[in-house]
Amino acid sequence: MIAPSILSADFAHLADEAAAVEGSDWLHVDVMDAHFVPNLTLGLPVVESLLKATDIPLDCHLMIEDPGRWAPGYAEAGAYNVTFHAEATDDPIAVARDIRAAGGKAGLSVKPNTPIEPYLEILREFDTLLVMSVEPGFGGQSFIPGVLEKARIVRRLVDAGELRLVVEIDGGINADTIEQAAEAGIDCFVAGSAVYNTADRGETVRKLRYQAAAVWR
Ligand code: DX5
Ligand code: ZN
Repeated sequence: MIAPSILSADFAHLADEAAAVEGSDWLHVDVMDAHFVPNLTLGLPVVESLLKATDIPLDCHLMIEDPGRWAPGYAEAGAYNVTFHAEATDDPIAVARDIRAAGGKAGLSVKPNTPIEPYLEILREFDTLLVMSVEPGFGGQSFIPGVLEKARIVRRLVDAGELRLVVEIDGGINADTIEQAAEAGIDCFVAGSAVYNTADRGETVRKLRYQAAAVWR
């Protein structure tokens, strides 16, 4: 799956920017609160408008403090997948259950330096694991290959039937990096600048999907 990130899109024309990547699996929406990360983007009102403007399932990536307070609202509004950060809460299970009770898929994200081992036991409460391959906060950064070991560990558990989970990666994914991520067992690839900084966004999405699928085959 390919999930273009609108972080690199033109925020004044989000409906058009979503339409430009029609056929994508998910549309990745980066919510930043200027506290959990040093950047500020958008929140629930924009997501509600976007839900009316596109049929692509929204993949909301909450880079915010206190996700227990805010995350369920995104699921209630109709976001398909709602991912929050492991580093932002002491009770990730409760947040995941509230997202699911509100009708969404629940995702857990880990920053590049956060180990996955402490969370393996609770991943059965989640539908998605989002492995960050850059420090969250900004688009256009370089891919950190060291995080792929976390993807490999979780992929093995999924393949062994111990977990059912989409393994997603976010940060620095482009034509040069997507294959190594696919080899590590990633099945959903977020791409912001690689998609929105090209003239034909739809064609870029198709090319990235083709590259990843060739590794999976
Ligand atoms: C960064 C965001 C990413 C960002 C990725 O904190 O979570 O989703 O859009 O951008 P690229 O693909 O340009 O690294
Ligand atoms: Zn993101």
